[in-house]
Amino acid sequence: SLVLDAITTKRDGGTLSPEQVDAFLSGYVAGDVPDYQAAALLMAILLRGMERDELALWTRAMLASGTTLQLDGLSRPRVDKHSTGGIGDKASIPLAPAVAACGAAVPMISGRGLGHTGGTLDKLESIPGLSTDVAPERFRDQLERCGVVFAGQTADIVPADKQLYALRDVTGTVESIPLISSSILSKKLAEGIEGLVLDVKFGSGAFISDAERGSELARTMVDLAGACGLRAVALQTYMGRPLGRAVGHSLEIAESLDCLRGGGPDDLRQLVAALGGEMLTLGGLSADADAGAASVLAALDDGRALESFRAVVAEQGGDPASLDSGGSLPRAPELAVLEAESAGWLGFGDLRDIGRALAALGGGRERLGDRIDPAVGFVLQAVDGDRVEAGQPLVEIHHRGGAALDAASALLRRALQVRSAPHARVPLLRDRLA
Ligand code: URA
Repeated sequence: SLVLDAITTKRDGGTLSPEQVDAFLSGYVAGDVPDYQAAALLMAILLRGMERDELALWTRAMLASGTTLQLDGLSRPRVDKHSTGGIGDKASIPLAPAVAACGAAVPMISGRGLGHTGGTLDKLESIPGLSTDVAPERFRDQLERCGVVFAGQTADIVPADKQLYALRDVTGTVESIPLISSSILSKKLAEGIEGLVLDVKFGSGAFISDAERGSELARTMVDLAGACGLRAVALQTYMGRPLGRAVGHSLEIAESLDCLRGGGPDDLRQLVAALGGEMLTLGGLSADADAGAASVLAALDDGRALESFRAVVAEQGGDPASLDSGGSLPRAPELAVLEAESAGWLGFGDLRDIGRALAALGGGRERLGDRIDPAVGFVLQAVDGDRVEAGQPLVEIHHRGGAALDAASALLRRALQVRSAPHARVPLLRDRLA
């Protein structure tokens, strides 16, 4: 059969034909190809890789397994951003409204948190009343008026990816560059966008920690997007320390609001400007990335980005008053402070321990469908490379009491290391690929 041919072809290092790709993916989505054959093919792809044209073919076939947003004819250029995720990465939340305030449309379909990283959708849903379930017939209209939709994946967008991802998760085949690239790109292509900015992280809190492998992923995704007719730029950025100071759902919304008011941590502001500058350039709204970044910063500083965010929140059922300072975002009842045990310089060990600490407090999820406590989390009181004295606060812990605090504290002690010598801060931006 074509499916068995596909498996043996890839096993032997060959290139899948269009017929094989089509037979496999359409058969798998229809339930005619069993998981054991799919698992064998995925493992062969992981071990053997894919050619450029073969990967484009595979990605288009994944896209064709579902429906796409029909957004032609909007007055605004359609652009989006994807991040491979990390600890404290809330950049999308200030970014989308800032870019919308500069004239773009951002049909942002994002995911939920799983394992050690948080999801943009979960963070947004900590805003009282806000729903990320936007009906298809409202999508386009909201995009035209507000320039942003924050939505979740629906069952009819790339169903092949939903099935394949679940299988990859239990067969050791997540960590394949072609499989990751086709998974991400097929979903972004379904948004019907004209330009895409990829934030590909490296460092201990990243999906792929190694910088060189991260670079390979970025290169593959930019080339794949191009082969599928989508203009894309990738920024490779450092995730060996949290982005900003806040980690945890409603705490990250609060920090995003600081950014939308023209303040907030420098690294968050810098990342939003860099990504936004690329998005505006891809959308034809600025001459180059530097000019675009300046426009984004202006929108953050003069209140237009915040206005745009308020409008989107209201449109999606959220309470705009909850966004005011002293508003009603969920707050944990208890506050603890972890202090430096000795003097030195703050550095970070394995950032995944911060994600695990958040999960220990109830702010993470092991399985899709698990409930998340939006109020718990951390706010760093010192950042990477800072000189700290013994007894100085390192991090605030927002929690609900009980044994969870001890578990979280132990994990944070491992992740936040006070070192005896200073170190140079790794720059946020490592590379740009176009
Ligand atoms: N995110 C995705 O959407 N797919 C992958 O394969 C990996 C990360």
